[in-house]
Amino acid sequence: MNTARDVLESVIRRTSVFKNREVLYPEYVPEELPHRENQLRQLGEIFKYMLLNPGAVSQRALLVGGIGTGKTVTARVFGREMRRLARERGVDLRYVHINCHRDRTLYEVVCELARQIGAPIPLRGLSPREIMLALLNYLERRNIYAIVTLDEFDYFIDVAGNDAVYFIVRLYDEYQELRKRLSFIFIARDIASIHRLDPATESYMLKHVVVFEKYRSNELFDILDSRRRRAFHEGTVDDDVLRYIADVEGVDRGGEGNARAAIEALLLAGEAADHEGAHKVTIAHVRKALSHVQPDIVRIAEILPYLQLHELLVLKAAVSLLKRRGEPYVKIGEVEEEYRELCQLIGEEPRKHTQVYEYVNNLKKMGVIEARVSGKGFRGRTTLISIIAPLDALEKQINEIIDRQLKIR
Ligand SMILES: Nc1ncnc2c1ncn2[C@@H]1O[C@H](COP(=O)(O)OP(=O)(O)OP(=O)(O)O)[C@@H](O)[C@H]1O
Ligand SMILES: [Mg+2]
Repeated sequence: MNTARDVLESVIRRTSVFKNREVLYPEYVPEELPHRENQLRQLGEIFKYMLLNPGAVSQRALLVGGIGTGKTVTARVFGREMRRLARERGVDLRYVHINCHRDRTLYEVVCELARQIGAPIPLRGLSPREIMLALLNYLERRNIYAIVTLDEFDYFIDVAGNDAVYFIVRLYDEYQELRKRLSFIFIARDIASIHRLDPATESYMLKHVVVFEKYRSNELFDILDSRRRRAFHEGTVDDDVLRYIADVEGVDRGGEGNARAAIEALLLAGEAADHEGAHKVTIAHVRKALSHVQPDIVRIAEILPYLQLHELLVLKAAVSLLKRRGEPYVKIGEVEEEYRELCQLIGEEPRKHTQVYEYVNNLKKMGVIEARVSGKGFRGRTTLISIIAPLDALEKQINEIIDRQLKIR
């Protein structure tokens, strides 16, 4: 029997797989941005005059792309690096990041802008215009420049409306004599929100558009790889773990192409490993993590009772094999073999080869399993089968339903 002291000691002494888990938190701004070099280059082209000839022009760029495609983080990294470069040139260039999901009226945005610049403007009783004018004067007196990002700008468009957007994008039309000290980055998920503006404002917004494509599996692998070194202890996360997450989320593999979901899955997998006191993160931990991020198990559980007996047996074979191997995928031929053995065990005549493939196709269509044709690293081409749901829980459910079906007979 373990004494209470033993239990506590083991909890306290157990080392975590994490070296620095904050590296996987959504707000962490990484040093490097794999596969966003192009977007950074475009931003550099648009805003370089802020360094080469400060005050001459006010620039605007619009970043558009789906969820988790790196818009926010690219803007932040760009701002951080521009600030460093400016300092080396003796220019006081600030970076201001405002989330319009939080600050969605013109008044709120302008107040937040003044706050982040640190301008001592008495906000109470002033209109947004008055605050902006006071701010512009402050920037002039202190010789400050700023790149202002308005993130989740769709919300601002919806709530603040066309005139407010117009005020911001045409700011210097009103104050022509002033040096152009503010430039803007707008971020939106969907360009459709921009099309709702009146044509004059719209064409101003669309002058420089930087597009963020959904990430492909290989790109997600590189992103996860660059976080792994900082987040985990050496040797606790193997490539196949990263590859598996990247394959589930990659847009070229039917995923959402969302880096946030991929990084969160890695964090949760690490936490699952810690929870068990394991020294390595395994594919089983990833499955557990993914079923949190995408709760497939509930949906699958609803489908199981409607499957035919032999479909269930094929599924059971895949689950047993995946469990035994501890690998992300197994080959369809191996599943068929396992299925035949299973049939023998319970005295069932196994279905023919073509029928088994038909079952696999069906299971795939229903979203119970994932099947894809093997690529690099496998000899010949074969179908690989994978299951995201936690296998233990799934196996238990399958067994119960098989038992029931056998009894009814
Ligand atoms: N190229 C990349 N390199 C490293 N990390 C990245 C990269 N792209 C995205 N990330 C990380 O993925 C997560 C999601 O990225 P980000 O928040 O920038 O997405 P987004 O496009 O702003 O999504 P949303 O539209 O949901 O706001 C963040 O943790 C971010 O640091
Ligand atoms: Mg964002």
